[in-house]
Amino acid sequence: MHLTVSALAATVFLATALADVNEGYPVFDCKIPLFTEKLPTFALGKAALFPTGQLESIIKTAAGGAKVDVREEGDAKYWLTGEILIGHVNKTSNESLVFPYLPSLKPGDLKINNDALKALLGDQAIIPQDKTRAGIVIGSRLTGSSQVVGKQPADPATYLLEGLIQRSIPYASGLHPVCGSGSQAAFDFDIDGNIRGLRHSWRPAADQNRLLSPLNPDHIQANITRRLMAAGIGSSATVTSVDLCFYDANNQYLQPAFRFNATVKSDNGPEITFLEGFIPASYSGELEPLPAIATPSTTGPTPSTPDVNATPEPPTRRLAGPSRRQASSVSVGRYLMSNDRLSPNFIDEASNLLRGLRGASSRFVDSQYYWDDPYVYTASGSARYINAVHLAFSDGHGSAHTFLTNGSKTDRGRVRISGDISARGFGGGTGRLAYWILGECSVIPAPIDFPSGQGQKAFEPWWRVFEGGMHAVVGYRGLASVNPGKWREVGGVLGRGTSVVHGFMRTMLPTGKTAAVTRCGRDADSVFMTAGLGRPECLQIWWYK
Ligand SMILES: *[C@@H]1O[C@H](CO)[C@@H](O)[C@H](O)[C@H]1NC(C)=O
Ligand SMILES: *[C@@H]1O[C@H](CO)[C@@H](O)[C@H](O)[C@H]1NC(C)=O
Ligand SMILES: *[C@@H]1O[C@H](CO)[C@@H](O)[C@H](O)[C@H]1NC(C)=O
Ligand SMILES: *[C@@H]1O[C@H](CO)[C@@H](O)[C@H](O)[C@H]1NC(C)=O
Ligand SMILES: *[C@@H]1O[C@H](CO)[C@@H](O)[C@H](O)[C@H]1NC(C)=O
Repeated sequence: MHLTVSALAATVFLATALADVNEGYPVFDCKIPLFTEKLPTFALGKAALFPTGQLESIIKTAAGGAKVDVREEGDAKYWLTGEILIGHVNKTSNESLVFPYLPSLKPGDLKINNDALKALLGDQAIIPQDKTRAGIVIGSRLTGSSQVVGKQPADPATYLLEGLIQRSIPYASGLHPVCGSGSQAAFDFDIDGNIRGLRHSWRPAADQNRLLSPLNPDHIQANITRRLMAAGIGSSATVTSVDLCFYDANNQYLQPAFRFNATVKSDNGPEITFLEGFIPASYSGELEPLPAIATPSTTGPTPSTPDVNATPEPPTRRLAGPSRRQASSVSVGRYLMSNDRLSPNFIDEASNLLRGLRGASSRFVDSQYYWDDPYVYTASGSARYINAVHLAFSDGHGSAHTFLTNGSKTDRGRVRISGDISARGFGGGTGRLAYWILGECSVIPAPIDFPSGQGQKAFEPWWRVFEGGMHAVVGYRGLASVNPGKWREVGGVLGRGTSVVHGFMRTMLPTGKTAAVTRCGRDADSVFMTAGLGRPECLQIWWYK
């Protein structure tokens, strides 16, 4: 513990404020910035609408030659290739999204198309000029490798490279990033330097000529401490960085906030998760709400406990098809790690995912919501639980090919992929599962996460999972940060019908390095494509690096 004079002062300050909270203090393993100059605030103007002609030409490229249909519904415009969503514009918020049609991508040596990015950056219709700054940042690379049954995996190849326009604010002799979901301009470049995907949302900002006094470091530390303790994760958190950013919630303001990154340890074990949080940067508090950390008293309904002793129902009853009326519905099952300090956050993420899905389409049925248990995945249990739904979401702590389900069990309810799951796998051949979202950290390592020449180890456990004919598993290859807002966003993206694989990987990339395992040739499938596929001959792993 780095106990400085300032930490001591903050502790004294807090002792009175938190006398009734039975929770330890977090460790601060970083410098806390000191600012003395008054902080500016900005009012946001009208959202720029990405120019239609340019957008349509990007969508045409993104489809890679496949036929594109356009559909308008209320305030939304959709571009589809078959059943798969390629482009979406929300004419109320003026947000634009384009997702590449994955089967049309070619691998190669990727470079950022600087000329194209500079042209976008200089285009007033896309990035309206104001007192804020915008600069080019090189983002992540989408990489893939496949393995045919019984063969060595193919060498990893890169398919897309992200180029971002990062907005920042000059203040106190430095540039401070704009954070939050509002200022987005990210572009996916293919091997020919063409744009295949984008996320765009941007409002010009006007200085409000309102100056706020920045919190001093003691108060920054005290406020962060207070948030972590109220969330019940004080003693398991280590704050690893604190910086100043200007939060854009795509609402009215760009407001100064201190952003902190913390690692949160699982109870009784070594696993960690990231957490990103924000506190208002000044003594005037927040101008509009900043994202909050879930606290045990503010989360949604708690899951039920699965009945692990029930006699499995005969599979014929379980497998009976959905009723005619519900023929096109997608059943959703959510399974969350219990008895961990982060459990309220897992509930928050699960509630948001469902909210996002249902906000986008009425076809989603909330059919299962349980505290997680290894039984959910076994030969007898999976028929009643994970393999009885089309779309499953597990959340908790994880590590390579492993996740935890119940912090109170002696082994914390460890589930190993593949040793602890049904030998018949999941999918339409044995049940119903088509897509599995793993919210835990690190469960899907990529071939490059193993020593050279051992890339097959990344694939090996997944063959059993896919045995039943499912379509795809998506999650993270590295540590991920808790971020309920993003889970709502990804629910919306998947619910509108993007590729589950890339819609998830791209949307959640800001929360950690995402990855996916998919049956070869099925990486474009949307969540509505749930037909069972039989045993696979080839698996593909996609990852961001
Ligand atoms: C979206 O763009 C249109 C056309 O430029 C504009 O009239 C509208 O006000 C914008 N919407 C928002 C929320 O700023
Ligand atoms: C469009 O954006 C508005 C404002 O953010 C939101 O309320 C609405 O649900 C969005 N519509 C779609 C179809 O995403
Ligand atoms: C942060 O600390 C300051 C100074 O103690 C206090 O006035 C303010 O209310 C705190 N804000 C929050 C959100 O805790
Ligand atoms: C905090 O973590 C986020 C990712 O979760 C990262 O983008 C950001 O740079 C980190 N901030 C600092 C100051 O390290
Ligand atoms: C978790 O494990 C404990 C100990 O085995 C058990 O009593 C409890 O029912 C399990 N599930 C939940 C949701 O706590």
